[in-house]
Amino acid sequence: MGTYVVTGSASGMGAAVVSRLREAGHEVIGVDLREAEVVADLSTAEGRASAGRTVLERAGGRLDGAVLAAGVGPMPGREELIAAVNYSGVVELLEAWRPALAAAGNARVVVFSSNSTTTVPAVPGGVVRALLKGDRARAIRAARRMGKNAPAMVYAGSKIAVTRWMRRNAVTAEWAGAGIRLNAIAPGAILTPLLQKQLSEPEEAKAIESFPVPVGGFGDPAQIADWVLMMLGPSAGFLCGAVIFVDGGTDAYFRADDW
Ligand code: NAI
Repeated sequence: MGTYVVTGSASGMGAAVVSRLREAGHEVIGVDLREAEVVADLSTAEGRASAGRTVLERAGGRLDGAVLAAGVGPMPGREELIAAVNYSGVVELLEAWRPALAAAGNARVVVFSSNSTTTVPAVPGGVVRALLKGDRARAIRAARRMGKNAPAMVYAGSKIAVTRWMRRNAVTAEWAGAGIRLNAIAPGAILTPLLQKQLSEPEEAKAIESFPVPVGGFGDPAQIADWVLMMLGPSAGFLCGAVIFVDGGTDAYFRADDW
C-alpha cells in the first residue's frame, strides 16, 4: 500500500479521491484549510512552504503519489487568491515534493486542470506567460484589462498555466526520468461546493447553465475520483503529460477537430 498526498482534501473532488484511496487501503495525507492532516493556507507563501515541509516529514521523505485538487473558482476582486492557490499552490508544492516522489521510483501525480482551459474564450496570453514566469502581479494586471471578466480570465489562465507547466515538466529527466508520471484531469462542471457557490450567483448561474454539455447535467465528484484513481494506478504507467477531459462533451463540442 502506498502513501499519497491530496490537496483540497476536505471537500468536493479532493475529498472523493481521499475516500477512494483510503478504501483501497492507502495512507493519505490531506492538505486543506481545515479538517485535514496538514492544515495550511496555500494562498500564502508561508502556507505553501509549511505544507511542503510538513507533508515530507509525515511521509518520511517518500511519496507514491500526489493529487493537487485544492483550487478556488472565479470570484470578483479575488484575482490574487485565485492565481496563488490554483497556480503557485500546485507548482511550489510539486517542486518541494519532487525528491520524495522520485524516492518512490514509480510515482504518479494528478493535477486538477479544467475544461475552462479550452472553452473560455479570449484568455489573454499575458496572464498565462506571467504566471509561468512566477509573476502573479503582472498576470493580474493583464487580467484586469478585461474589466469585469478579470476573475474568469485569471481562473482559466491559472488552469492553462498549471497545465502547461505540467506538460513541459512531465517529459523531462527530472520527472519522467525519475519515474514520476505527471498528468492532469480536466473536469467540466462537477457538482461540488465550488460549483454550488457559483450557481448561487444569478449571473454566474446563467452563464454555467447556458454552457453546452452534450450529455446534459453536471458531473459527479465520485466519477472524477475513479478517473484519478486510474491515473494513480498501474494502468497509467505509459500515461505521461496527458490532459484527460471528463466534461460531458463540452471540449469536443467547441473544438471537435482541434486536438
Ligand atoms: P471544492 O471547493 O469542493 O474543494 C476545493 C478544496 O480546496 C476545498 O476543500 C478548499 O478548502 C480547498 N482550498 C481552497 N483554497 C485553499 C487554500 N488557500 N489553501 C488550502 N486549501 C484550499 O472544489 P472542487 O469543485 O472539488 O474543485 C477541485 C478542483 O477542481 C479545483 O482545483 C477546481 O478548480 C477544479 N475544477 C472544478 C470544477 C467544478 O465544476 N467543480 C470544474 C473544473 C475544475
